[in-house]
Amino acid sequence: MKTQSRLLNCVIGILSIAFVSSRASAEDKVDFEKQVLPILKSKCIKCHTDKDDKGAAKKPKGGLLLTTAEGIKKGGKEDGDKVLIAGKSADSTLVKVMALPESDDKAMPPEGKGDRVSKEDQDLIKKWIDGGADFGAWKGVAK
Ligand code: HEC
Repeated sequence: MKTQSRLLNCVIGILSIAFVSSRASAEDKVDFEKQVLPILKSKCIKCHTDKDDKGAAKKPKGGLLLTTAEGIKKGGKEDGDKVLIAGKSADSTLVKVMALPESDDKAMPPEGKGDRVSKEDQDLIKKWIDGGADFGAWKGVAK
């Protein structure tokens, strides 16, 4: 009887550890380089870069450079217009422009210039911003 209840306690212990650790991993931070960057690469970077296909210098659209962490933090043309407010996705233009209807002048990508960013991808970027917008070790796209 005693051994049985010890065994039971042990099983309960293991189960609760498993439960706690699975919850911790569900709350894991979004990894910029692995999860957010691929979205920007496929939907945004062709315009928001400072190099053309041949590597020649050009101006990023809207003065907003999305190929480096510094560029993303600095923001767009309008006097240091920040597009990313760490912790506040609702105030971050970077993700707000993705949610606009395609017909809106400020929608990104601009109308007819690329596929919309899916709801799931927008949610992921919001989660990254709300979690502190940490770039990790990423400094910029390799050139
Ligand atoms: C086809 C080219 C193109 C693509 C693709 C594109 N953009 Fe833009 N983006 C522009 C242009 C042009 C402007 C400037 C618009 C203006 O000033 O009215 C701009 C401006 C912006 C601005 C506003 C900058 C500011 O401070 O005023 C943000 C934010 C932005 N883009 C984010 C994005 C994001 C995020 C994506 C990908 C989902 C994206 N863009 C994809 C061309 C593009």
